[in-house]
Amino acid sequence: MSRLVIISNRVAVAKARGAAGAQGGLAGALNSALKKFGGIWFGWSGNEAEETTRHIELNNNDGVTTATIDLSAHDIDEYYNGYANSTLWPLFHYRLDLTEYENEFGKGYERVNEHFAQSVTPLIEPDDLIWVHDYHLLPLGERLRSRGLKNRIGFFLHTPWPPARLFVSLPYHERLVRTMLEYDVIGFQTDEWLGSFLHYCAKELGADVNEDTGEIRFEGHVSHARAYPIGVDWDHIQTQGATAEAEQAAQRMLASTRDRTAMIGVDRLDYSKGLPERIDGISRFFDQNPDRVRDLVFIQIAPPSREDVGSYQQIRAELEQKTGQINGARSEVDIVPIRYVNRGHSLAELCGFFRSAKICLVTPLRDGMNLVAKEYIAAQDPEDPGVLILSEFAGAAHQMKEAILVNPHSPDNLARAIRTALDMPREERKRRYDILADTVRNDDIHGWTENFVSDLRGAARQ
Ligand code: G6P
Repeated sequence: MSRLVIISNRVAVAKARGAAGAQGGLAGALNSALKKFGGIWFGWSGNEAEETTRHIELNNNDGVTTATIDLSAHDIDEYYNGYANSTLWPLFHYRLDLTEYENEFGKGYERVNEHFAQSVTPLIEPDDLIWVHDYHLLPLGERLRSRGLKNRIGFFLHTPWPPARLFVSLPYHERLVRTMLEYDVIGFQTDEWLGSFLHYCAKELGADVNEDTGEIRFEGHVSHARAYPIGVDWDHIQTQGATAEAEQAAQRMLASTRDRTAMIGVDRLDYSKGLPERIDGISRFFDQNPDRVRDLVFIQIAPPSREDVGSYQQIRAELEQKTGQINGARSEVDIVPIRYVNRGHSLAELCGFFRSAKICLVTPLRDGMNLVAKEYIAAQDPEDPGVLILSEFAGAAHQMKEAILVNPHSPDNLARAIRTALDMPREERKRRYDILADTVRNDDIHGWTENFVSDLRGAARQ
């Protein structure tokens, strides 16, 4: 059986589990795929070195081989903080206002992608399946092909793919997408992002696109694009939710909120997550329902992220200011309506928090999928489940129609949803939960990995 070579910017062994969605379940699923098929997980160590060298650090963690390289401060700046997180991330989340189009960033991105290709190539055997992840490494497949690799190479994008009219604002957009067409399989989270990509390939590149099968023919290559909605590790969440750590976390939350309903949000501190808009919605709820200030306490867990990027420093300051304002205006000696926690928690603790919070707000302005929505459902007590309020602009909304779907830009819409959630009778909560839980359990992360790997295995070689 072919080995699997996973390549991503970060190599997420156990460390990041449950930090704030995505990485947690993903790391676990990719680790178990690697254990099953054998192979390597290659990427950046997260460390800065004097200079970017060819030295690869090989490690064996619990049966999984990881191979990492360090990057120089200059490369981290232009590739990770620059092109990946100041150009592509905002653009892919429809934030042209935050997108920085610096030539130097683009050069750094190409340089690091080439460096990744150079470093990983000697580790690859002819029969290996190669699976590249996320926007940091869009051109990596083409860089590997240019080194003569004939392996099957797949790519999965964890973020949205923006509509063509936005994407064309990127200088050299054509060059970037041409490189992607060297992949045999290209995966997206939802049909919406897939549709935008196919539309771009047909209209802007003039590729021969079959919208029904996702087959893209371009200059002698054939790629297959498809939606593979990512899921969570249902069983792992059940196990974690049953630990003493989870129980303790639930008790802490219940004891501190007493007879008030706890409403929770768990997000990386990122402008795509709609955090200031969420606070505005809560504020509107309190304005419209002054008699209910004592009924509700909102706990926002938001571990900081990408702190060297200016737009992340701004969102942090904005959020601190907004929570300070509303707490200043609404607090009483025994009530602080919003608690804002600036650090990550283990998956077990999160499960405990999720279970004791009767409402969860997942209201990104744009999100590839959003696994917090699925983790929240997986962590609920089936007999007395909480209510999920979910942005219609999260990829997860395509699958989770039984949540209360909201437009996160509208404070009135959010305020109404909070009221509906607070007043929702148990029967109705259970009815919605049963449907949501079926979806989350059936489309879990293991199925996702298997589907992608099996399509990649079946792809005709270039
Ligand atoms: C998103 C991205 C991932 C990324 C994660 C954390 O989920 O799709 O690729 O790893 O955020 O961001 P960071 O910049 O800390 O790796």
